[in-house]
Amino acid sequence: MPEAATVSSIHLHVGQEVALSGWIYNLRGSGKVAFVLLRDGTGLVQCVASVDRLGPETFSRIRRLGQESSIEVTGTVQADPRATGGYEVRLTGVDVVQEALGYPITKKEHGPAFLFDHRHLWLRSRRQQAILRVRAAAVRALRGYLDDHDYLLLDSPILTPNACEGTSTLFGTDYYGRTAWLTQSGQLYQEAGAMAFRKTYCFGPTFRAEKSDTRRHLTEFWMVEPEIAWADLDDVMDAAEDFLVEVVARVVAEARPHLEILERDISVLERVQKPFPRVSYDEACRRLADRGIPMEPEDDFGAPQETALSDLYDRPVMVHRYPAAVKAFYMKRDPVASSRALCVDVLAPEGYGEIIGGGQREDDADALLARIREHGLPESAFGWYLDLRRYGSCPHGGWGLGIERFVAWLCGIRHIREAAPFPRTLDRLEP
Ligand code: 4AD
Ligand code: MG
Repeated sequence: MPEAATVSSIHLHVGQEVALSGWIYNLRGSGKVAFVLLRDGTGLVQCVASVDRLGPETFSRIRRLGQESSIEVTGTVQADPRATGGYEVRLTGVDVVQEALGYPITKKEHGPAFLFDHRHLWLRSRRQQAILRVRAAAVRALRGYLDDHDYLLLDSPILTPNACEGTSTLFGTDYYGRTAWLTQSGQLYQEAGAMAFRKTYCFGPTFRAEKSDTRRHLTEFWMVEPEIAWADLDDVMDAAEDFLVEVVARVVAEARPHLEILERDISVLERVQKPFPRVSYDEACRRLADRGIPMEPEDDFGAPQETALSDLYDRPVMVHRYPAAVKAFYMKRDPVASSRALCVDVLAPEGYGEIIGGGQREDDADALLARIREHGLPESAFGWYLDLRRYGSCPHGGWGLGIERFVAWLCGIRHIREAAPFPRTLDRLEP
């Protein structure tokens, strides 16, 4: 029996006969020779079927197989610089496991709605695989960074009694007769964690009932949220900057072949080096005004403002001290300008916009209670959170990075829904 191999390890088997299992990615050929591009989940390899080696019956069966038919094959591995991946397998035997007919995703152009309706199949295509491998590399990199830098993994709950990021984007669910919210952010629990362990993080799904269908918004997305005790806004900006520089470097080192499949300009990612420019919201508004970008005074930035700002720099830019009125209730006010919050957004280059939001938290119990009331939040749900200010409060802060926005930027893809295996948006719950 030939040794079982995978496409990713095919280079170890040159000159040997191996057994492979997979699916037909593409098939072309003539009366005597057929070229089967075999996909086995680890990569693509060209397999050559010839009537001489396989006999007329097997050969003609192969010739008729549809895209994505599943097969088990044996064959000899040859180095061939002209073939995809640099190797070729001369088939000695083929077992058809299932014959697929009329696979819906073909070489012709399909619209996004069709492709997302067939997301369960679209995952098999080369580009989608490259994106999702970059995502996996990004998750490995950010976990690796945080684990290596003494942040303790502390999972935040998904079902919560609290609204963290405003009451207008909550998904509720019945919880034995009362309403639980699907978490918008694990931050509040990380604050409890940071008071216990100094530096913690969570990485998990978060939910927002976003009413607008944009290329930057999902209703379910994964967020990593580090939190640090004894840290002010500058410390948070330093930590987030170090995190982003190191995580991007790790992804580039590990996922370069996948970024190349996506034809990503990797030099953009290599420029993610310290120091990031840091501008206040007020300074950013002046720069926007200089460039003639319209903007409502005291308003949050939207996509046009973020794009115009990030275009001024060759690396991510940190915008700090937004108007407190447009930001979340838990943010600490700037002691030198009380209308400003001690917060920071990191805007990615090339118009990708905000990928990180964070800042310093209100650490005074009375001020925090006043904010909870101003925002019309139910006090009873925040008793535990106020305890953190009653028992050993200290300056602290952290940030959240949405993995899909991060991956979309890493990959250079326009819409973040391709960065999620099964995206959830305003108009999509299937598949
Ligand atoms: O700026 P946001 O709302 O901040 C928070 O949730 C804080 N509690 C984080 C913290 O300080 N621990 O969201 C943080 C990030 C955004 O910068 C963006 O990357 C992502 O989460 N994000 C979304 N990604 C996809 N779809 C959405 N609807 C998103 N909303 C936020
Ligand atoms: Mg934000």
